[in-house]
Amino acid sequence: MSMAKLRVGIIGLGGIARAHCDAIASLDDVEVVAVADLFAEKRRAYMQKYDIAKGYASHTELLADDAIDAVAVVLGHHLHHRLTVDACNAGKHVLVEKPMALSLEQCDEMIEAAANNNVKLMVGQTQHFYGTSLKAKEILDSGELGPLITAICYMSKNWNFAGRPPQYRSRFHGGGMWLTNGVHVVDRLTWVMASQAVSVSASIGTRAHYQASDDSATAFIRYKNGLAGVAVAVGFADGAPNHEIQVICANGALRFSQHGEKYVKVGKGDQWEDIPFEDPPAEMRNEWKAFAESIAQDIEPPTSGEWSRHIMEILFAAERSAISGREVVLDSGLSWVNQRSGTPVAIHHGWI
Ligand SMILES: NC(=O)c1ccc[n+]([C@@H]2O[C@H](COP(=O)([O-])OP(=O)(O)OC[C@H]3O[C@@H](n4cnc5c(N)ncnc54)[C@H](O)[C@@H]3O)[C@@H](O)[C@H]2O)c1
Repeated sequence: MSMAKLRVGIIGLGGIARAHCDAIASLDDVEVVAVADLFAEKRRAYMQKYDIAKGYASHTELLADDAIDAVAVVLGHHLHHRLTVDACNAGKHVLVEKPMALSLEQCDEMIEAAANNNVKLMVGQTQHFYGTSLKAKEILDSGELGPLITAICYMSKNWNFAGRPPQYRSRFHGGGMWLTNGVHVVDRLTWVMASQAVSVSASIGTRAHYQASDDSATAFIRYKNGLAGVAVAVGFADGAPNHEIQVICANGALRFSQHGEKYVKVGKGDQWEDIPFEDPPAEMRNEWKAFAESIAQDIEPPTSGEWSRHIMEILFAAERSAISGREVVLDSGLSWVNQRSGTPVAIHHGWI
């Protein structure tokens, strides 16, 4: 017996909605049945290109459509909270883009709305799901490199000031390099460290551009397991990109990256060896696969609301540290394994 397809509505047809549609098109058990955007031309373009039947002029119209099981919230950071809460209250499962929201209170309301409505909430921490990331995590989890010692995670690239939409140049709207891309860096780092952060010390500033948000950050993060990692997120005015993660374990080292050159390398015996990995046909395929799986199997998605709230907790604490010049201790009362959204967890993905 074949399972019914997951019927998805995409809200917000800016730049990255295309990657979501491509990923869904590569999966058999998911389909886009509707899109919503304020601009008619954008709706038309997506409906035509991806053969989508319905186009709505706002998210409220889309959320009223009973033929939609799940939505992707793919627009401005300052709108993630409101639209996610509305979508949960409309009974839809939600995949919301990163960064999750602009405050921990907003994150909590999103998690609560999902729990109250018995729907899944996942945050689009895309870099978690890259073929290179999944392979690297598999190697680390296998224990073949021995106990973890430390990791450094980079995302430095041209900020593209001239082409950067204004909301990304305004911290008030949740913009800046730290919230926009540092969120990927801290997500990957924390995932690799396989522990919950307890404190952070950071330097964050606006150093290469004149704008109302940061463009560069360096953070030193301590974890519950006693280890520490470093997160670097810089949007420079000129340079060359580096998205590498370097992990050092007792009996081996690991480097992996998805942008520029794609690779997973293991270092042993003073040599770096290239490790093969599965490269999916669409960049976000694994992300959508995990989201659909969490709904079909009634399990918590890998980058759940709780997990992503913790990532935001680290980001906000780093901002406070940058202002005070002091290490900031996280509240971290709850652990991300304490599920608070969706129906009860039956099994774990093992991806976090
Ligand atoms: N995961 C990744 O790798 C990745 C990459 C790029 C962007 N993103 C994230 O994706 C999100 C969207 O970014 P973007 O640059 O594509 O967005 P954008 O700002 O370019 O586009 C947003 C679109 O939403 C529409 N819109 C606004 N309000 C609406 C409403 N109420 N109902 C329906 N439509 C509405 C606008 O008309 C616009 O077309 C951001 O959170 C961003 O950080 C993620």
